[in-house]
Amino acid sequence: MTTATTAETRSDKDRVVIFDTTLRDGEQCPGATMTHDEKLEVAELLDEMGVDIIEAGFPIASEGDFAAVQEIARRSKNAVICGLSRAAPKDIDRCAEAIRPATRKRIHTFLSTSPVHMKWKLQKEPHEVYEMVIAQVTRARSHTDDVEWSAEDGTRTEHDFLCRCVEAAINAGATTINIPDTVGYTTPEEYAALFRMVRERVPNADRAVFSVHCHDDLGMAVANSLAGVTGGARQVECTINGIGERAGNAALEEVVMAIRTRNDVLPFWTGIDATMLTRASKLVSAATSFPVQYNKAIVGRNAFAHESGIHQDGMLKNTQTYEIMTPESVGVKQTSLVMGKHSGRHAFQHKLEELGYKLASNQLEDAFVRFKALADRKKHIYDEDIEALVDEEIAHEHDRITLTSLTVIAGTRGPQSATLELDIDGRQQTVQATGNGPVDAIFNAIKALVPHEAVLELYQVHAVTEGTDAQAEVSVRLAQGDYSVTSRGADPDTLVASAKAYLGALNKLISKQSRNVGGNRRRIHSTDVG
Ligand code: KIV
Ligand code: ZN
Repeated sequence: MTTATTAETRSDKDRVVIFDTTLRDGEQCPGATMTHDEKLEVAELLDEMGVDIIEAGFPIASEGDFAAVQEIARRSKNAVICGLSRAAPKDIDRCAEAIRPATRKRIHTFLSTSPVHMKWKLQKEPHEVYEMVIAQVTRARSHTDDVEWSAEDGTRTEHDFLCRCVEAAINAGATTINIPDTVGYTTPEEYAALFRMVRERVPNADRAVFSVHCHDDLGMAVANSLAGVTGGARQVECTINGIGERAGNAALEEVVMAIRTRNDVLPFWTGIDATMLTRASKLVSAATSFPVQYNKAIVGRNAFAHESGIHQDGMLKNTQTYEIMTPESVGVKQTSLVMGKHSGRHAFQHKLEELGYKLASNQLEDAFVRFKALADRKKHIYDEDIEALVDEEIAHEHDRITLTSLTVIAGTRGPQSATLELDIDGRQQTVQATGNGPVDAIFNAIKALVPHEAVLELYQVHAVTEGTDAQAEVSVRLAQGDYSVTSRGADPDTLVASAKAYLGALNKLISKQSRNVGGNRRRIHSTDVG
């Protein structure tokens, strides 16, 4: 196993700045919207784990985005707080206003430079785009000294034009130049060569830090990001769990651990406390309701699990046989405690810490009550059961509508019916409804008590653990107008889990709509930002 660069061998020129865009590029992928409080919680964790720059949102997109960026700017302790803006002066000014409370602030302004984007999206000639680059960076610099300029669709931009725009942006005051692979099209060798070419040809290149920003459409976002660093970039834009537009962005945890684990061929370093990676992954998954795939590198449930006899035998003799990094190095503790109905509060808290959670005392208390209720109904409580329970706690803390009780009549003699009692803003309300199957009956009952126009886009059931008493986990995605939200519900009863998931999505939708009065962020995001 290789070791990370030691303090003695570290030099500033090898330092890779980690720019996290979970709250901007990550949050704008369909269904991954977070509430205001969830964004603050994620930002606090990113700040604590050593992220250098937090891209907190796109302030012009909606009142909700503006408020979140402003509050994160107020609260951040270490990280530079960054907001995104297009080239329009009112975008840039709004962004500047949102980040103003931060001790260290950055405006990130972008413009498309590729022929296809200039012709079809911007409908502008290259000479007009060139002038806009100068104007947008100049305006951003009038608000702050720390300005990043991105050449959107940079990897499909003609080299001569890219170099001219980069030179002009630096002359106008940009301190960071990002060349994004907006559509996930490039390959590692090509991307590394692109950075070498730009840094060689642009005469003032030494006055800016170069940045990579890769999307994962061909599954190469992390490889491309690391290649960009070998080509001279020193900032990596990435997201927790790799969430982001379409196939996502480069995953922060993979970039950080690749640099640490293969420091022999990637002789760089970051300021990230890698032991917090698992916690960050769980928090983002809970807040967005996006499950982490089981075999996901670094933070997937199976990343450190060994199933085959040969592998287990090897592991028992020496863990280096099948592990290139230790679970502890990314914050996964080897578990030992068996949890059940006799476990106390202290053991429960200890278990949560082992699993990478740090809950506030009221959250802990609620989670403990729900753990006890689960332990009464289920013999073996696996780590995954506890994770599902806590994720739900974090995701639904601020819900206005909660499930009080549900009775379902199902079976061969229809129609199936559901009697549902909800707590809506503190008032108990009951209804009975029928449907084409029990799930349909439950969703009809919810619609009767909370009338809404949202359309069910996804309904998915899977078991969290094994056995007939396993917890079911249900994902529901609802879409209404510009918004689309996903939520998860877990319970040993699949129908109760379905009701919880639907209500979770409805709560998110309500909170989204009340925060974004008049906002049209989905439209802005899907057409203008990659
Ligand atoms: O993918 C992209 O090009 C972007 C820019 C706004 C940096 O997200
Ligand atoms: Zn992007």
